[in-house]
Amino acid sequence: MPDEYAISAWPDTHAILAALDRLVKQPMRPVTRAKMAEYLNYFDAKCAGSKALHERARQRIPGGVQHNLAFNYPFPLAIHRADGPYLWDVDGNRYVDFLQAGGPTLLGSNYGPVREAIVELLRESGPVTGLFHEYELKLAELIHRLMPAVEMFRMLGSGTEGVLAAIRAARTFTDKTKIVKVGGAYHGWSDQMVFALHVPGTGAMEAFGIPRGCYKDTQEFFPNDVGGLRTLLEKNEAKGGTAAVIVEPLGPESATRPVTREFNAQVRALCDEFKTLLIFDEVVTGFRVGLGGAQGYFGVKPDLTVFGKCVAGGYPAAGGLGGRADVMSCLAAGLESGKPRAYVGGTLSANPLSCAAGYFSILEIERTGAHVLAGQAGDKLCRGLQELIAKRGLPFVAFNHGSITHLETSAVMLLDIMDPNALPESKPRKMMMEEMGAAFMAEGVVTLAGSRLYTSMADTDEVLHEALAAFDRVFANIEPPA
Ligand SMILES: Cc1ncc(COP(=O)(O)O)c(C=O)c1O
Repeated sequence: MPDEYAISAWPDTHAILAALDRLVKQPMRPVTRAKMAEYLNYFDAKCAGSKALHERARQRIPGGVQHNLAFNYPFPLAIHRADGPYLWDVDGNRYVDFLQAGGPTLLGSNYGPVREAIVELLRESGPVTGLFHEYELKLAELIHRLMPAVEMFRMLGSGTEGVLAAIRAARTFTDKTKIVKVGGAYHGWSDQMVFALHVPGTGAMEAFGIPRGCYKDTQEFFPNDVGGLRTLLEKNEAKGGTAAVIVEPLGPESATRPVTREFNAQVRALCDEFKTLLIFDEVVTGFRVGLGGAQGYFGVKPDLTVFGKCVAGGYPAAGGLGGRADVMSCLAAGLESGKPRAYVGGTLSANPLSCAAGYFSILEIERTGAHVLAGQAGDKLCRGLQELIAKRGLPFVAFNHGSITHLETSAVMLLDIMDPNALPESKPRKMMMEEMGAAFMAEGVVTLAGSRLYTSMADTDEVLHEALAAFDRVFANIEPPA
């Protein structure tokens, strides 16, 4: 199903934004204190193994976890087994998995046919040799077939590295310096991109340990504010110009603030007008929205595309950069004197294991139509959540773009940082979001930070039924309006 996409119908962006605005302006509606005490008791009573491991981990691992997404309230669960739509913790509790490792496991967790191909490869070559392996080429050819704008492809170690390489290539190719991003978007944790994270307008708020010089040429504009982007590009003209505009094509933080249907084409037109490269960060959307990526869905051709997550099918070292051959040639390995080269590297970049995992996973997605099935599951999950919210008269907001569903209950990420009245709300709203995540978990559903749900091909109607019943048990225990 290479021509089919996961998004069955484009949701009404303005209606979603209006509903989110109403939610963020209302007092919070958390889980009742009595029920929350019960949920916290679940973790003490049923997750003793995880708790003990966490106590030990806190001594040797900063914060007790290696991965931001694992940092769940009241303490991180230690996962022992993953299969299809389910996870099992070390205490044997089973959960429906809507975290999906942050997005890469579109085929479901620990998908057998890909695992078998990888085991076979490991028998032959082991995970890495440092020399060329045919799977590097096979993956690059496959991505080019599915996304023709990716004329050349370079596999790297992570989405963060892909973004780093994209910015370096754009600056080398255009001989310009400024990089413009959408406020609130996440493009990994490189020195120049820890800027305007999570919430638009926050600029360098989270840039601890990063000298100003690293992000002084990074700029943000507000989501959907195409006029604001034009103003920035015009101003930059007097200062040497803009090397690239980078966007998450569905909107910052995987559409936590969704963009309009026209947004990407509008940004493309401005990039053409100002001779600026357009970078699509398809770390989440690549293959999940469709085999042609978000660029295929929107019919917008970026100059460069950043890959991550699905590009290695849930296996390690998931990152890459692809795009126009003339721009990508700036990354050519080897020394060619007199030609500017954007330096990239990585001992484990493009190792056979990651390339084969990506190659076989993407072929399996194509064979099974996993992206479409996961999108249908997302539609059903979102519709189910909307019905539960309406049934109980709650102010919460659920919306989805195919297999990416958002469930906003506290709307902490939607707070207007420019509004001094809103600022004191951020801490309690963040706490509420964490509590919601804990409540869903205690009812048997793992989410991404209590507010985002990725679906996979493994999410059958039966799995969705089980998950929706769990959400309803939480929604039945929400505090009434003050
Ligand atoms: C849109 C986007 N870009 C880049 C990244 C960074 O990718 P990685 O975590 O592989 O470095 C992420 C990670 O979640 C992402 O969601």
